Amino acid sequence: MWELVQETVNYIKKTTNFTPEYGVILGSGLGSFTNDIKVEYTLPYNEIPNFPVSTVEGHKGALVFGTIGDKKVVAMQGRFHYYEGYSMQEVTFPVRVMKYIGVNKLIVSNASGGVNPNYKVGSIVVINDHVNMMPEHPLRGKNDERFGPRFVNMSEPYSTKMIAKIKEIAASSDIEVLDGVYMGLQGPTFETLHEYKMVKTIGADCVGMSTVPEVIVARHMELETFGISVITDIGSEEHLESITHEEVLKAAQEAEPHVRHLIKELILQY
Ligand code: HPA
Repeated sequence: MWELVQETVNYIKKTTNFTPEYGVILGSGLGSFTNDIKVEYTLPYNEIPNFPVSTVEGHKGALVFGTIGDKKVVAMQGRFHYYEGYSMQEVTFPVRVMKYIGVNKLIVSNASGGVNPNYKVGSIVVINDHVNMMPEHPLRGKNDERFGPRFVNMSEPYSTKMIAKIKEIAASSDIEVLDGVYMGLQGPTFETLHEYKMVKTIGADCVGMSTVPEVIVARHMELETFGISVITDIGSEEHLESITHEEVLKAAQEAEPHVRHLIKELILQY
């Protein structure tokens, strides 16, 4: 893995000669964030050595390099999900690569189903912790100490300083953000009613199919990590039957301008 990562890093460095400080993983609800970036280079995933090959035909996947103000960023336009059939090593490979091209702060976004009664469709949730319920762990197997330690401290998976900063930004921009614990499940089914009840009983506020593996690997390498989620559906008796992928995308798109603003300002101000 180390050699594969370094090979990819060398290719990217040679091709872009660009050293980003921020990495951003664009999930549903932040897809158009690339419009906020003054783009310098775009590398399609299929041109990057060792990058996972997209399973979806015509799927646009690319690393986008550029600046926001005086901050240098790399954005992942399109992520790899475990439910698509990738191994956890493939899902998290881009995060490893980001680290060695210079990234030390990772911002991750996603769409999720809400079980916290205070949430509505379109609520923006600042993730303050997660529960890993995915069936495979990205750090299982022999540990390579060059990446990080065998036993990773997860007392602060999401940076409290970045959380404080985004709340300041949200307050001054009149955007409502709520706190929440995100549970990662493998999908690809949406949850049954009783699975949503389980999520709630365990103490999570929302549930989705991404983010947790990427954050674990980021913390393994001591990246400072921030996560934001758009609630696209509510996991309760009254709402359950309406959940479709189309509705998830629609809800995510509606919240998108606010999420974009928050993340842009976080990068500028943090
Ligand atoms: N469950 C899992 N993943 C999701 C959901 C959900 O309800 N909404 C958006 N992504």
